[in-house]
Amino acid sequence: LRGTHGPPVIDIRTLFNQLGCLSLDPGFTSTSSCFSAITYIDGEKGELWYRGYAIQDLANNCTFLEVCYLLLYGELPSVVELERFENAVKNEMLIHMKLIDFYSSFQQGAHPMAIMVGVVGALSAFMHEDIDVMVAEQREAAAIRILAKFPMMAAVAYRTAYGLPIVFPKKKFGYTENFLYMMFSDPMADDFTVDPVVVNALEKIFILHADHEQNASTSTVRIAGSSLANPYACVAAGIASLWGPMHGGANEAVLAMLDEIKSRENVDTFIAKAKNPNDSFRLMGFGHRVYKNFDPRNQIMQDIAHEILTHLQCNQKNILELAQELENKALNDDYFIKRKLYPNVDFYSGIVLEAIGIPRDMFTVIFALARVIGWMSQWHEMMSESVKKIGRPRQLYVGAQKRNVQPREMRE
Ligand code: ACO
Repeated sequence: LRGTHGPPVIDIRTLFNQLGCLSLDPGFTSTSSCFSAITYIDGEKGELWYRGYAIQDLANNCTFLEVCYLLLYGELPSVVELERFENAVKNEMLIHMKLIDFYSSFQQGAHPMAIMVGVVGALSAFMHEDIDVMVAEQREAAAIRILAKFPMMAAVAYRTAYGLPIVFPKKKFGYTENFLYMMFSDPMADDFTVDPVVVNALEKIFILHADHEQNASTSTVRIAGSSLANPYACVAAGIASLWGPMHGGANEAVLAMLDEIKSRENVDTFIAKAKNPNDSFRLMGFGHRVYKNFDPRNQIMQDIAHEILTHLQCNQKNILELAQELENKALNDDYFIKRKLYPNVDFYSGIVLEAIGIPRDMFTVIFALARVIGWMSQWHEMMSESVKKIGRPRQLYVGAQKRNVQPREMRE
């Protein structure tokens, strides 16, 4: 077997069924779980395409909603199609008042990702809709609905966590402008000025994170969806998976690490710590399961970091210099060279988000906001297949032999 690109694949199902044996692949390092026409990664060449378009091309020439349309429908939209799509999204941006009430039951100070897992999982209970997951139009409508509502859901999670009053979206703003408006505007103020450089940086961050083939959270969404579960509940499962520091939580962890390193003189000590097999510390924002040469998103992110820090004249330049020092040292170190460990997209994204004023506990929520279209497109693609198979891996049992229950008083 072969995809249109990528290495040859052995379809082991028939052979292994005949032989009566299983394959073992913890972490799925050499297992393809599906056919997909959405995203392609060449880890050796450092290439990433959405629907055949290079990520650099899309980041330089498209808006985030254009990329969302591309991921969901497979083609870039015409002017008319884009306008229709933007309007459809705008019309769905508000969330139900009862869902807003639901947020008030969370503690002030709760992690916004914990809130997001809860509210997104509960979304179907507040929508009074019964989605027929077998109908393509209903799946597309569900994708648009959750894409549209995500900025308000994310902003309300932030405002709940920080005890701030809620702000509603405005028709005059675009998708990303509305997100910034709902996050940062003062409900008592007359007006809110949107900085186009900040909007552009955030749009690019959204585009870079919109999809990444069968990563942990996307695979989680697909497995959950394979039981024909409600798609919003599947997205909640994806958010839970994304939260971890080995995945979407890495950008938050990068800044915590840079804080701990403090200054350039300490870089060598931390590199030595990361190399020590007896120390569990890893350089956060370094390494990737698929990219073994460079992560093409990292270079774009580094350029955005320079642009935004210069534009905002931020005092965060020190942290950028520290990150660059760490990157340079690690890239010239045998340990990292031998293991093909390069900075990934999250190495610089936290620096950009912090410069924009996004609190650190919201970083992974921003990632989820960007990735929701990828999750829904992948789920839509999976549900379009004529033969649907529930995701159900096997295991190698290594537990006790069969035994009998002893009477309670005879147990040791
Ligand atoms: N720092 C130091 N050593 C590392 C790092 C790192 N960041 N990443 C991997 N290694 C080492 C491992 O210790 C291992 O060494 P060994 O062969 O001597 O045992 C070797 O490199 C291979 O590591 P694995 O964990 O087997 O690689 P895997 O492909 O399973 O993991 C992952 C990839 C999870 C991204 C890993 O590199 C990591 O933990 N990185 C830090 C967290 C991070 O940045 N996550 C974001 C990923 S990108 C994203 O989700 C958007």
